[in-house]
Amino acid sequence: MAGQDNVRFIVQAGGALRGRLRVPGDKSISHRSIMLGAIADGLTEIHGFLEGEDSLATLNAFRRMGVSIDAPQEGQVRVHGVGLRGLRAPEGPLDLGNSGTSMRLLCGLLAGQGFAVTLTGDASLSKRPMRRVTEPLALMGARIETSIDGTAPLVISPGNRLSGIDYKLAVASAQVKSCLLLAGLYAEGETCVTEPAPTRDHTERMLAGFGHPVRRDGPRACLSGGGALRACRIDVPADISSAAFFLVGASIAPGSDLTLEHVGMNPTRDGVIQILRLMGADIEVSNSREVGGEPVADLRVRAARLRAIRIPEELVPLAIDEFPALFVAAACAEGETVLTGAEELRVKESDRIQVMADGLRRLGVDAEPTPDGIRIRGGAIGGGAIDSRGDHRIAMSFAVAALRSARPIAIDDCANVNTSFPGFVVLAAGVGLDVRAEGRC
Ligand code: S3P
Repeated sequence: MAGQDNVRFIVQAGGALRGRLRVPGDKSISHRSIMLGAIADGLTEIHGFLEGEDSLATLNAFRRMGVSIDAPQEGQVRVHGVGLRGLRAPEGPLDLGNSGTSMRLLCGLLAGQGFAVTLTGDASLSKRPMRRVTEPLALMGARIETSIDGTAPLVISPGNRLSGIDYKLAVASAQVKSCLLLAGLYAEGETCVTEPAPTRDHTERMLAGFGHPVRRDGPRACLSGGGALRACRIDVPADISSAAFFLVGASIAPGSDLTLEHVGMNPTRDGVIQILRLMGADIEVSNSREVGGEPVADLRVRAARLRAIRIPEELVPLAIDEFPALFVAAACAEGETVLTGAEELRVKESDRIQVMADGLRRLGVDAEPTPDGIRIRGGAIGGGAIDSRGDHRIAMSFAVAALRSARPIAIDDCANVNTSFPGFVVLAAGVGLDVRAEGRC
């Protein structure tokens, strides 16, 4: 039995994924829709909002800063914008739970508000590096204290008006880029961010939708401070990062034929499809369309014989959240898959290289972590108990691994699946994964 605070997934071995499903809304876009809606003038209507703990942490943070937001109902949220200068100081710290996106983007948005505010998070978020945002914000004139290790809590003090900067990112991070662009709204002059490799561009797309264009010149994105955002309607596509578990599951489970509906296909996010196709996956894209400035399509995926590959490094930022699932695909592929240039995986919700390697080895898979990646030799998957270390994406990845395991897989510490994919167990069971949850869910 699972202990009091432990949610354990028990997944029976084998099976196939069949039918159709729409996974919940995109987490990155859901966060941004609340943030921009809150500081816009007028009423922003959001459809397809992800009612997961992470995006709800963002929603609650803005409520605490005086923004009226109607309770989400089946993915519909109405945000009554207060304008660029209308936020109020919250009483007490803003607790952002497990959500790195909330903390890093809010840090930028709040750095120029003229009130004091403290951002806190759970044990995992409190270990994640925050100097990557506080250092460039300090160059803009922000006053933010971190712990001695450069982690949360982040204590933001009011200071002088921010000034724009021209900043080169050291790591390819959409969170840092977005943080600086949001701070740039409150800065004097122009703020420019140059990224070393393309990262997700939802902030830029959505700012344009709110009437505040971001100028793009190759890897450099610039915006001017001031002005106003105009409220708009936002349609949030299904999250390709949540679809990824099913793309992998249906690829590895013989007899699978699954259609995923209305999946976000932003080219800065589609690395998982590119990598799976390089491995021989059978993924058919249909009904491609654009919804509210974001490309969307239906994906039909059928079981295929996967082969090992050396993952091209330029695809790493485009699939950064999908590697736990892709490692499961690699465990089912013929030959040795090699990932390099992915040290960022070590500072996600968990150290995803180490935690995945530990779990795969427990299941009898030959997996060797390296400082910036992993080597995985495809072969038989056994069964047994895995510790997800509270990382939602690790929990769901091992759940779909059971489609090819010889024995059941039990996964501990799964409560955080609710941060990005509420309803995972029911949806997955509906298309053929024999999974149930024990403990408080
Ligand atoms: C996100 C960006 C990515 C990703 C995270 C969400 C975002 O982080 O891992 O889950 O919404 O901007 P980095 O940009 O720091 O790699």
